[in-house]
Amino acid sequence: MTEDFLLLNPGPVPVTDEVSAAMDEPMVSHRSADFEAVYERAQDGLDYVFTESTLDGASTAPESGGTSLVLNGTATMGMESAVANLVGESDEAVSLVNGKFGRRFARIADRHTDEATRVEAEWGTSLSLDDVREAVTDDTEVVTMVHNETSTGILNPVAEVGEIAADHDATFVVDGVTSIGGDEFRLDDWNVDVAVTDSQKALAAPPGVSAMWLSADVEEKLDGESAPFYEDLEWHLRKAESHQTPFTSAVPLFRALAVAVEDIVEETMPTRIRRHRRQAKAFREGFTAMGLDLFADLREESDYSNTVTAVSLPEEVYGDDCEAFFDGVTERNVSISGGQAHLGGQIFRVSNMGGLPDDAILRGVRTVGEAMADAGVDADVEAGVDAARAELETVESAHADD
Ligand SMILES: Cc1ncc(COP(=O)(O)O)c(C=O)c1O
Repeated sequence: MTEDFLLLNPGPVPVTDEVSAAMDEPMVSHRSADFEAVYERAQDGLDYVFTESTLDGASTAPESGGTSLVLNGTATMGMESAVANLVGESDEAVSLVNGKFGRRFARIADRHTDEATRVEAEWGTSLSLDDVREAVTDDTEVVTMVHNETSTGILNPVAEVGEIAADHDATFVVDGVTSIGGDEFRLDDWNVDVAVTDSQKALAAPPGVSAMWLSADVEEKLDGESAPFYEDLEWHLRKAESHQTPFTSAVPLFRALAVAVEDIVEETMPTRIRRHRRQAKAFREGFTAMGLDLFADLREESDYSNTVTAVSLPEEVYGDDCEAFFDGVTERNVSISGGQAHLGGQIFRVSNMGGLPDDAILRGVRTVGEAMADAGVDADVEAGVDAARAELETVESAHADD
């Protein structure tokens, strides 16, 4: 008998029945009190996620405050609106690039200023903080970086870069798309001015809307005059005061997001962060125990991602030969991702974002192992599953009283 479909891509991730059901409720106007209540629920939940993503439940909200917004459109629009609202054509922007999404931020900056520069490292390797120190100066207006680089499974050092940005009074814009809601994220300690995330990642809502947190300092800097019309953040902030968006809201998606973030409040971020860390470690232990290599090459201050695991494809299934492996995974009714851009045919990626049960992690490990073995790779499937299970059980019992 075929097992149920299992979605392990790094977004969209599975959503609960309650989140799905929220989208089926009768339609209402985006200018109604009903909708305003939905927006407020989503905003309250997002305030919690943005400001209390810590292991001890402590708040990292800056004393000066800040605002959570929900935007129609995925996080790329959030990234673009942050840059477009903060950078004029002669303002200096420094973008850190060690993967596809860091590059996306840099490409966005290229479109909005003639003074965009990049600090680059090979995809999958750590960024050099010395390079960042050299690139960021008192003339830098904005620094952009990706916290969790989904394309490579590397967790970048936001705290250290935030300190450099703050030393030069630069506005620090962070893509927390695959960390926020799943891993630690500290607004004030890391000097974050703008944080962006997507609905369909660790928040475990359907795709189509994104969320942004803006510090009160940034709110003061916003000048609606030069902002793109649809992405005018000053306007979004003004409308958010009455729990509305400037233009027609994606009502069903806002409803689903409200339920998803309320689920996070109920689980609590400390528990959620521990669960994500435990499951990501189980993926790593499982894949390495079966004989595979993790793709991320940690050289400086960076870490393995706690939400997305990227694994190098062994030579038997490398390049054009990867199809047999990916077909084997699909045949087992599991969906995973390959590499993006030039990493196509070089890696595979799995996610543990959202609310996956531990069984899904074990099935992911087993599926990858069996598909590798079928494709001719000498993968020790049982060793992989055992190592993943051991990791899940060890850490689970260590936090049994949490
Ligand atoms: C790190 C990161 N940034 C940004 C995005 C935004 O992508 P999209 O706008 O397609 O949802 C993604 C999606 O995978 C991501 O992983």
